[in-house]
Amino acid sequence: MKTESSVVVRPARNLRGSVRLPGDKSISHRYAMLAGIAEGTSRIENYSTGADCASTLRCMRSLGVAWERTDAADNVIEVQGRGPTLTAPSAPLDCGNSGSTMRMLSGIVAGQKFTTEMIGDESLSRRPMERVIKPLTAMGATIGSREGKPPLHITGCALKAIDYKMPVASAQVKSCLLFAGLLAEAETRIEEAVRTRDHGEVALRAFGAKLERKSVGAGNEVRIRGGQQLHGIEARVPGDLSSAAFFLCAAALFPESQLAIPHLLMNPTRARLLDVLMQMGLHISVTQLEEIHGEMVGSLQVEGGALKGATIAGADSAALIDEIPVLAAIAPYTEKGVEVRDARELRVKESDRIAAVAANLRRMGAEVEEHEDGLKIPGGQKLHGAEIESFGDHRIAMAFAVAALRADGETLIRGAESAAISYPAFFHTFEQIVER
Ligand code: S3P
Repeated sequence: MKTESSVVVRPARNLRGSVRLPGDKSISHRYAMLAGIAEGTSRIENYSTGADCASTLRCMRSLGVAWERTDAADNVIEVQGRGPTLTAPSAPLDCGNSGSTMRMLSGIVAGQKFTTEMIGDESLSRRPMERVIKPLTAMGATIGSREGKPPLHITGCALKAIDYKMPVASAQVKSCLLFAGLLAEAETRIEEAVRTRDHGEVALRAFGAKLERKSVGAGNEVRIRGGQQLHGIEARVPGDLSSAAFFLCAAALFPESQLAIPHLLMNPTRARLLDVLMQMGLHISVTQLEEIHGEMVGSLQVEGGALKGATIAGADSAALIDEIPVLAAIAPYTEKGVEVRDARELRVKESDRIAAVAANLRRMGAEVEEHEDGLKIPGGQKLHGAEIESFGDHRIAMAFAVAALRADGETLIRGAESAAISYPAFFHTFEQIVER
């Protein structure tokens, strides 16, 4: 049983310090899954500390994959790969709050000769799964659901390859289908109309798979041949850029901020936030840029500056999908405001993030226009402390801790424990770098 907890955030004067982030959530999920179906041992350092990535590891164990945490301080995970054939779980796989676990792992269990039941918490049970059900069914799997929502009953088989144009821009779906394609016969081709994060492609290559990629208009096509064998790797997961977003946006609130973030993920399909914040006036310089297993990693030096406005629309909305809540939360403090469009997907995340952001900003006294696919938030506003509701959503809890830094008076974040879904140490680290 989860106990609800509240956190009080007081206004700050400045932000100063250095933050070392837990491993990226998207990469951790993929490494854990691919390590499980690879041959040999994988050693993964700085694995995400978030509850979501722990859900993935638990599900892998239920599918017969042995792993252990060999160093708690650096969150090192050693996984004994079983190769592509897993064992039937004796109980439903509990994906907790993690859409990534359910969607991506469904591509792997669809290629197994047994039935898997996948369940999730109340929030995950409301999220759309037809986006993976439809293509996996076309590949030969039999999938039962509750009108396209969890729980899923997946009866796997020897999958057929697919040529599929994704109707929704989703990296989770793309990875799901590439994983299924790896277990299928012949060549699978996935096309996305809008470019989404490519950690699935990069991780598959790191584990030794060959795949071909090319741009098609504003999107991509990826081809993968089935039957390729993966091999275990030794890797260090770069710091999570979507978690860094909370500190970067907090830094943007104060012209005197000074922040260092070593070993941060800089993958170009994730780093759009840095461009947007720089255009808004934050000074960011990147040093020690290197590539590890195909992922770009760098160290950031950040200095506060102006805080102009921004418009986020089209391909940017997909590229910034996890960062929009915190960009919206600082929007009232910008000079010209922030407008977000083409972000309807936010309504089917861990919460309806458009409604959650609008409701909480209004509680703090802000003027907000809510649209079906986004928000328009005027700049130059003064906010006051209030009681904020996380709606059980980690990114909403953390986004409003940031908004609270420049409000008048204290802000109480209800359901603050949900931050642990991606970043258990968030509030602790946050209080260390905030100056009052
Ligand atoms: C993720 C992709 C995004 C993102 C989620 C993680 C991933 O979801 O919101 O937090 O790791 O691929 P969609 O692919 O469904 O947009």
